[in-house]
Amino acid sequence: MLYLILFGAPGSGKGTQSDLLVEKYKLTHLSTGDLLRKEIASGSELGKTINEYISNGNLIPDEMMISMLSAHIDNTPATAGFILDGFPRTVAQAEALQNMLEQREGAQTQLVDLEVDKDELISRLLKRGETSGRSDDNLETIQKRLEVYETKTKPVNDYYKAKGLHACIDGMGTIDEIFQRIVKALEGKI
Ligand code: AP5
Ligand code: MG
Repeated sequence: MLYLILFGAPGSGKGTQSDLLVEKYKLTHLSTGDLLRKEIASGSELGKTINEYISNGNLIPDEMMISMLSAHIDNTPATAGFILDGFPRTVAQAEALQNMLEQREGAQTQLVDLEVDKDELISRLLKRGETSGRSDDNLETIQKRLEVYETKTKPVNDYYKAKGLHACIDGMGTIDEIFQRIVKALEGKI
């Protein structure tokens, strides 16, 4: 079973490229951001707590996120594998995922890191903010999300580099160009 991690800063194209990769490799798309937004939309108390974190540009606490993700994986019907979009986002989450997958026979992990210039990230997210309705697509929260990415999320790269499971992709250019780069980088690996 493949666990393909789509990694990158806010606005780097994780969701966009996941849609194309799901189609090509017949994988199940698991976006922690989408899971959290669904919980918010349900109007639950948990959703209200989650909304506080997201609209301020902060991460949801590791424990809450890890248990949500593992429950979701366990409840997914048979699949060829998963695209993990937005998880792991801290080294603690990466370690938890590694522990979880070590207990599953035949689990294979690969991380794809989308590298995009900061100005381009901001301009993509501001543009999306015109129509997305996402409470975190405004300049102030975008800047906070980018800061959190630098300090808490980026170190996850080194965790996977050390394991030889890291592929760096130039995430600048058209959606199709980037998709072709990912497919090429995955050749022979998955
Ligand atoms: P999440 O929903 O994961 O958001 P994010 O990481 O901030 O990333 P985005 O979804 O904004 O961007 P993306 O990389 O998917 O890019 P997209 O394809 O949309 O997380 C939201 C929040 O939830 C977090 O801040 C945190 O609070 C919480 N959370 C989630 N996971 C968590 C975890 N594991 N632990 C703790 N907290 C967690 O593209 C962006 C835009 O650009 C789109 O409009 C798209 O159409 C456009 N675009 C894409 N590619 C291109 C291109 N090549 N050229 C031009 N435009 C492009
Ligand atoms: Mg996304």
